[in-house]
Amino acid sequence: MKTGVCYYPEHWPESQWATDAQHMRKLGLSMVRIGEFAWSRLEPKADDYQFDWLDRAIDTLHDAKLEVILGTPTATPPAWLIRSNPDMLAVDENGQTREFGSRRHYCFSSQPYRLECERIVTKLAQRYGKHPAISAWQTDNEYGCHSTSISYSVAALNAFQLWCEQTYGSIDTLNKAWGNVFWSMEYNDFSQIGVPVGTVTESNPAHRLAYWRFSSAQIKSFNKLQVDIIRQHAPGRDVVHNFMGNFVEFDHFDVADDLDVASWDNYPLGFLTRDGTNEEDQRRYFRTGHPDSSSFHHDLYRACGKGRMWLMEQQPGPVNWAPYNPAPLPGMVRLWGWEAFAHGAEVVSYFRWRQAPFAQEQMHAGLCLPNGDEDDAAVEVKVLSDEIKQLAHIEHNMQAADVALVFDYAGDQAARIQQPDGRHYDPLVFVQRVYSAARQLGVAVDIVSSQADLSPYKLILLANVAVSDAALASQLEKTSAHIMLFPRSGSKTTECSVPKQLAPGAFQQLINIKVSRVESLPASVELVTEKKSTTIDWRERVEADFAAQDVFEDGWGFHYTQGRTHYINACPDQPTLIKLIAARLLECHLDYMDLGPDLRISKRGKLTLAFNYGPKPVHLPNDILAHFGYENTTGFALGSASISPGEIAAWQSS
Ligand code: GAL
Repeated sequence: MKTGVCYYPEHWPESQWATDAQHMRKLGLSMVRIGEFAWSRLEPKADDYQFDWLDRAIDTLHDAKLEVILGTPTATPPAWLIRSNPDMLAVDENGQTREFGSRRHYCFSSQPYRLECERIVTKLAQRYGKHPAISAWQTDNEYGCHSTSISYSVAALNAFQLWCEQTYGSIDTLNKAWGNVFWSMEYNDFSQIGVPVGTVTESNPAHRLAYWRFSSAQIKSFNKLQVDIIRQHAPGRDVVHNFMGNFVEFDHFDVADDLDVASWDNYPLGFLTRDGTNEEDQRRYFRTGHPDSSSFHHDLYRACGKGRMWLMEQQPGPVNWAPYNPAPLPGMVRLWGWEAFAHGAEVVSYFRWRQAPFAQEQMHAGLCLPNGDEDDAAVEVKVLSDEIKQLAHIEHNMQAADVALVFDYAGDQAARIQQPDGRHYDPLVFVQRVYSAARQLGVAVDIVSSQADLSPYKLILLANVAVSDAALASQLEKTSAHIMLFPRSGSKTTECSVPKQLAPGAFQQLINIKVSRVESLPASVELVTEKKSTTIDWRERVEADFAAQDVFEDGWGFHYTQGRTHYINACPDQPTLIKLIAARLLECHLDYMDLGPDLRISKRGKLTLAFNYGPKPVHLPNDILAHFGYENTTGFALGSASISPGEIAAWQSS
């Protein structure tokens, strides 16, 4: 694994570049991402290309033996460009144009903007494609950030009408597929279709899911346009994009399919305070991030990148964009780096080299302070870089896990769009809770797409596959794995309506049950079963010609099993989830160890790493050490059996 950093030479006097580059080397960094927001400096006026400074910046980094990741600048079209054609701007759901003056203001559907992107990316790729310093290219920056995946502009509407025509063929087919007879929503013509916002009350869920699919396809084609140009001029270089955390606004498997590597941007403290739902966790982990948040995304993006995953931006200190922005616990920067390694990262790169003293992100920490002095993270990054080299000789090939969690972006959307008002049920939070339960039990989890080869797995979990998927059901049937379906599985068609055969739709091929009623529950309500399982948020009534394993107080069944398939018809609370998954692991003859809430253990090849996310020291007992292949003869490669908060231990197993 290499370490790197995001750098903005255009923010600093040129006289400082060489010193910065030397300093980066001193910290053990070997990769530098540059350029992704520099359009106004690369082309200050139409067709006035100013690449000399970038030539010199790249050469300076190259002279210091740093590899460069060059970003395309398309996330920040400059003022002159936008003012020349305001149709390039995106429009939000209130019909408000997204003004120039920050970033990501463009609309993916604007054809004139695509032409401009094609032009600037071609120029850059022609000039730098074969530059020896540049080993990778990043397309754009964080597709979808600041709610920009979906635009409601005229350009988007026109493209959507065309997409509908290509997808459905005839307007009658579309009307039927969407159920437009309801409320007289039928169209005579594709040109009558609008965007699914601004309606008096909720717009048709089919319309919304179709708009989501369309928007996702727009991002894919926007990205592919750049990838194709880069591939043509920059042979042998990796093409990557930096995806975000806790983000499901488009199908990342689909977009990443055109890339060599899926990289992502990890801000564990920002995510916890911005996206976290659980106050207790927010208090406990405010300086560490949730113990399963980073690893969840590593595993997800490793799947998106078909085995190849980088961290393009890793949080080094307080950020500026969450509701509150605490400093990481000392040690966490090193811990997050090692954890990324344990989950297969090839690169961990920090955001950013030096804190900017001006503009929007002046309150965002970097590895160095605005005056150039090292900030706290610099020391930990140096330690990490050294340790990675020190342990590089230990075999560290990634191995397939025994447990797979199928992740489905369209399923997430379908569940999100209509749930009838179960506002505490969030499909992404739920899928993360399932992942977390398995991780607390000490097992590795591969997150996989619904199209992945499922044959290697012994236990397969489906927690956000709300869209009925016959191909997936057949794939699952062919495996010999035990299967666990959670509520809402297969409860919608691809057009976001109820499947003819009722939920779980095509998954009835695996378990012969029917969901005849669903209910969403107030946050304060917990429903308890005879066997002391507790459920929250959501519950379903299931019809089956066999008995449930357990029963709620009001007689509704809970947990149905047929053959090797289990259907869990309510959202278990975390202890229940852990209990249910533990029982499935036993069934599959997979050993597990309950590590408790704070300790996590990950294995990469022969190296095993333990991480303490909790507020107190953790002592690794002998049974845990033995379970994870610790041998007294070799001892600890890093740390010891007693792990302080924010610390790690590592050992080599045979
Ligand atoms: C990311 C973005 C960076 C920077 C960073 C701050 O979302 O890609 O450019 O803004 O957040 O945390």
